Amino acid sequence: MKAVVYDKKARPDKLVYGDVEKPVPGENEVLIKIHSVSLNAADYRSMKMGIIPKRKIFGADIAGRIESVGQNISLFKPGDEVVGDLANYGFGGMAEYVTAPEIALIIKPGTVSFDEAAAIPIAAQTALQALRDKSRIQKGHNVLIVGSGGGVGTFAVQLAKYFEAEVTGVCSSKNVQQTLSLGADHVIDYTKENFTKSSKRYNIILGINGNYPLLAYRKMLSRDGTFVMIGGSLSQIFKSLLFGRLISLGSKRMKSLSAKANRNDLKFLAGLLEKGVIKPVIERRYPLEKASEAMDYLSKGHAKGKVVIQLKSP
Ligand SMILES: NC(=O)c1ccc[n+]([C@@H]2O[C@H](COP(=O)([O-])OP(=O)(O)OC[C@H]3O[C@@H](n4cnc5c(N)ncnc54)[C@H](OP(=O)(O)O)[C@@H]3O)[C@@H](O)[C@H]2O)c1
Repeated sequence: MKAVVYDKKARPDKLVYGDVEKPVPGENEVLIKIHSVSLNAADYRSMKMGIIPKRKIFGADIAGRIESVGQNISLFKPGDEVVGDLANYGFGGMAEYVTAPEIALIIKPGTVSFDEAAAIPIAAQTALQALRDKSRIQKGHNVLIVGSGGGVGTFAVQLAKYFEAEVTGVCSSKNVQQTLSLGADHVIDYTKENFTKSSKRYNIILGINGNYPLLAYRKMLSRDGTFVMIGGSLSQIFKSLLFGRLISLGSKRMKSLSAKANRNDLKFLAGLLEKGVIKPVIERRYPLEKASEAMDYLSKGHAKGKVVIQLKSP
């Protein structure tokens, strides 16, 4: 089969498009013919940190059709259309086929395209777990989403509106209209305004991207407010892990999120997608042979929504 394989000696970017053995499913696995795979920071950050999947193929968020199943598989049959998050199961999505345990997968709603389905797993689960689990979002909460323009941010805006919050997005000028069109009530263009100096207070702040002082975030929280560190610069993520607890003293909570793949969450999100409550923003689509270009683009940190690799026209 065709795949994009990591090779540390390959120039310029260690990703090589070529032929590899088609995988064979074990008794607890299914074999999936991949139609679409979306990329995440987890792909390029793992690669940069030298955390290489066993099969040396990146790509966690996949959507495709089951080709065959191992003897212990009960949830799926050949022909089923599925979507899954393989980040905890060895990645492998930048390929024509991948094997996966059934626990990583759910049935893709029939009305949702493979591209749209592949866009949800990591980004939308992260947004959901940050808002619902870490922040206990409630109707009427004031929510500030810092980094509303990217994969996680575009879902966070839509999910916060689904939970009936008042949403403010923070992004650069090119993403202002997009953030508003996703339902945000207010947008702050960080290239024109230093939002950390604002006197406004928020019940929830999601730090999805950028590198802003943790104490500034803390100051912007209302009493009993929650800040959730999701991503951005590595130095800020480390600072949040080190000092978050320390500066949580009092009623304001400073938390960090490590999102987990969860079938129930994925089912819930696929349901919202099917009902049209959330819609993935897909900025770019690439063929598999251009996957290294796609990774390079995403790793620059300014994608507008999701980047998807298409293997087969739906
Ligand atoms: N904690 C977890 O479990 C978890 C899970 C998933 C992802 N993450 C992390 O979350 C982060 C975002 O992931 P993603 O998939 O959304 O990435 P992404 O799609 O690459 O995000 C790119 C977006 O970030 C925005 N951005 C860049 N600099 C900014 C700044 N200074 N202020 C505000 N926005 C800025 C960009 O908007 P502009 O072009 O408008 O600047 C762009 O739209 C990454 O660091 C990732 O590692 C963490």
